[in-house]
Formats: sequence, C-alpha cells, structure tokens
Amino acid sequence: MNKVILPFAFCCFLFLCCNQPSSLPSAAAPNPGGSTAYREPHRPQFHFSPPEKWMNDPNGMVWYEGEYHLFYQFYPDSNVWGPMHWGHALSRDLAGWEHLPIALYPDSLGYIFSGSVVADRENTSGFGRNGQTPLVAVFTYHDMAAEKAGRSDYQSQGIAYSTDKGRTWTKYAGNPVIPNPGNIRDFRDPKVLRDEAGKQWVLTLAVHDHIRFWASKDLKHWEPLSDFGKEWGAHGGVWECPDLFPIKGEESGETKWVLLVSINPGAPNGGSGTQYFVGHFDGKKFTPDESFRSAATGGQAVWLDYGRDNYAGVTWSGIPEGDGRRIFLGWMSNWDYAQTVPTTAWRSAMTLPRTLTLKKTAEGYRLFSRPVAESEALRLDKKRLPGTEITAVLDLTQHIGFAPSQLELILELEPSEDAQTFGVELSNAKGERYRVGYDAVSRRYFSDRTRAGDVSFSPKFAAAVHTGPRLLNDKNVRLHLFFDVASAELFADDGATAMTDIFFPTEPFGAVKIFTEKGKVKLLKGEAYSLARVWD
Ligand code: FRU
Repeated sequence: MNKVILPFAFCCFLFLCCNQPSSLPSAAAPNPGGSTAYREPHRPQFHFSPPEKWMNDPNGMVWYEGEYHLFYQFYPDSNVWGPMHWGHALSRDLAGWEHLPIALYPDSLGYIFSGSVVADRENTSGFGRNGQTPLVAVFTYHDMAAEKAGRSDYQSQGIAYSTDKGRTWTKYAGNPVIPNPGNIRDFRDPKVLRDEAGKQWVLTLAVHDHIRFWASKDLKHWEPLSDFGKEWGAHGGVWECPDLFPIKGEESGETKWVLLVSINPGAPNGGSGTQYFVGHFDGKKFTPDESFRSAATGGQAVWLDYGRDNYAGVTWSGIPEGDGRRIFLGWMSNWDYAQTVPTTAWRSAMTLPRTLTLKKTAEGYRLFSRPVAESEALRLDKKRLPGTEITAVLDLTQHIGFAPSQLELILELEPSEDAQTFGVELSNAKGERYRVGYDAVSRRYFSDRTRAGDVSFSPKFAAAVHTGPRLLNDKNVRLHLFFDVASAELFADDGATAMTDIFFPTEPFGAVKIFTEKGKVKLLKGEAYSLARVWD
C-alpha cells in the first residue's frame, strides 16, 4: 500500500466517521466492576478480564506517571474475535484495575491489531505541545476489505498519540508509517524500544517466519535494520507479538538482550505459545547465544511458559530506572479454543503480571518468571501448613479454612528416592479435579486439566496432560501456585519453569490436597493465602 498523506479536511471527516464505535455510546467507559459485576461462573477475581465481550492480546503496555497502562485487543460487539479495537485499563499497583474508554477504533485503514506504546520524553515525534510528553502508540492496521479482496498487502503499521496521559488518542495523519512491502501477509505487532546508546527508536516486527528490526529518530520515519530468525527457534506456526529488551544477568551483572516471540500454532503442548532467545543486540542486529539454536540444527526451542494459556505476552515499557524491573503480562488463553470457552458475558483474562529475571544455568542464560511483588497485596488470610510426611494425600481444605478458588500456595517438597508423581489437586463434589505437580521420573512438571470440568467445547482443550521440563537439579521441589477460579499459574523452582492453564469446573473447586502417587514427599515448607477479589 502506498503511503498517502490525506488532506486535513478529509482526515477530519474520516476521523469523525470511522473513529466511532459501532454500538457502544462514544466515550463510554465500560462500567468499572463490569456490567455483570464480575460474579459470573468462571470469572477470575484477581486477574484482569474485560468487563464484557471479546479480548485477546495485551497491547501498549507502558508505565507513565505512576500509571501502568494496559491496552488490549478488544471487540466490543461480540464475545468472539471481530473488528479489533484497543480496549484500555490502568493500574497504579499492578493488583487492581480501572477501566477506561476504548482508546483506538478501527478506521478506513483497517482494524487496530496489536502494538505498543512509548513515552516520547524528548518529544522526538513533535506530537508534544507545551512541554508535554506525548505517549505514542505504534500498532498494526489490518485492512479486512483488502484481505477479502484477495490482496496480500493488508497489514501495515500506524501510529497515534496522546497528550493527556493516555486518556484520548489522535491518529497520525501520515499513516501508515510502515506500509506493507506488497506481498507479506503476516507483517505485524510492532514493539518499540528506546535505544539510548544509539539515540534511536528500535521497532521489532513479526514478519511471517522471522523478525525484522527497524530504526527511527522520530517514530514516524522508519528504516529497516536487519532480519532475524528464519533458522532459529520453533517454526510450527506464524511468528507474532515480539518484544526485544535488554536485561542484566542476575548474578553476572552482564547486559544481555532478550527477544520474545509468540508463535501460533507450534507451542510445545499445542496451539499458541511464547518462545524466547537470549543474545546480543548491537543497535542493528540481534545475535542469539548458541544455546538457542533451532531444533532443526540439534537444539531445542526455549519457552517462556509450558502451559497452554500464556500467549502474545510482552513487557511494560517506560518502567523507571530506579525500579528497573522487566514486567510481563500475557493473554491467558490459546487460539486453539479461545473463542469457544464456556463463558459468555466476556471471553478470557490476562496472566498475573510477572517479573522476568535472567540467570545463568547449566543450559546457558534463561528467563525466570515470578509474580510481581505487588501480588502480595492480594493476600488476606495466611495459614502455615504442617511440616509433615505425605504418603498418599494431605487434605489441606479443613486446615486452611478458606475456599481454594482464590488461593496462593507456596510449597517446598522433599521427595523420597522412589517418589514419582506428586503435586497439588483441586477438586469438587462432582468428582472433577485439576492437578499440577512434578513427575520425578520424566523430570517434568505437569498440569492436568483432562478431568477438570467442562472440556466439551473443543477437542483440543483437554486432549493431553501438559508438561514442561525441569531446568534445575535441586533435590527439593518448590512450587509457587496461584489459583483464581478458572486458572492455575505454576512458578516452579523460583520461576525456572512456569506453567499457566485455564479450566472450567462445573461447580467451584472446594477441596485442595497435596498428593503423591508413589513414594513419599515431605512438606518442608508450606504457606497458603486466600487472595482478594479486585473488582469491588
Ligand atoms: C496474536 C494476534 C496478533 C494480532 C492480533 C489480532 O494473538 O494474532 O498477531 O495482531 O492477535 O487480534
């Protein structure tokens, strides 16, 4: 598509015609607390979910003046995917969320697909007025009419800006800023990073089966820098939603660069998943460490999360240096079944915000995922669990005295020599159960939702038990678990292996147990917390 600079009057006309929602009253914020007050069956109580209708990827995550912005792929007219808007919410504490009006509506150039937001502190874009810092959104336009007409140039990159802390947005009249080269169908999901050393903006874009980096001085004019990835990592599906960022090795202090790449399908347990590479970026080119060489050449792809429900996640930009964290959030679903899960008022939620850290392991540098420290503010009641030896089952239900549907568990388990499969089970009176734990024989963590309730909506949902490799060699197994009505997040071995899965019990899980199938496990440390609901 050629870049067309539209005359100003025509732009105003287009803006007025197209920048309106088709059914919500304009500027209507979805009702905080939601139209249904966030009490429906399966509604997460401390995870972010939209008040109603369809949501997929997190977008535009930026911290600015004390506010963590979360935009998201949103279709306000239906509970299945459709013309994409950017929904908008913000948090001041990464625990509670406030809903704001839809930020970006489809227009004549297309639907608004995934992208990112940066705070343009030096006003390189010139969008700031009177010393204000503009927030600049960089996103993909998806021209559905062009796709339906059989063209292959229907994705391009556009920008929009806000000078009121993200409350209102104006699309740039010179869009698209990166037109489609003409024949690339998958050309999307720009993530922008400030490269201070190079005094440039770097944009990371998913281009079908690889990544293309671009550079700009002003966020409007972009030059291609280099390509990466055709011979690296997993290639079972299309590459999407990349993120490039520097991060210091936790003990080494060495600065490395991480490239997250979501892929659909082709994840280790099926459908959508997020792989990553650790390496070096010199301002132009990304070079991964050798331990990330692709499966085709003898290596293994490395995944951020081995569950099936953590997709399209990226990290917040603009976190102040004094804080210095890399904070990640993913979409807690999977394209294999996201549109048919048994919720009707809304569809899907985000993962907990997670801090990513980089550690050197026997396999090379690897990312560790942990819930952000702010999640501790969700804790209500605390129960210490008895240090005891478990031969078959330790029922925790009575001991903790609160419903396990909003539960955090921190366990350290010492398996006996002959221990095989052990972990945590949630169950209800209908005989439905969800299990998560460790298999000492295969040395893999597992998440088993095959009997966890309604699985009828998709043959792909509960076809198998999901597993992920154990990275560390420690004798004791440390499980950090979050259950929120219809989801489980496992951070094992201090975050070396993460697994995120959703499930749909037909009545809430009321019981929680530690189980071992063979051999014994000693509960060396155990803490349980009931967790707060954040929607009141
Ligand atoms: C990933 C994705 C992105 C795209 C968006 C469309 O889930 O397919 O590549 O921008 O969703 O909603």
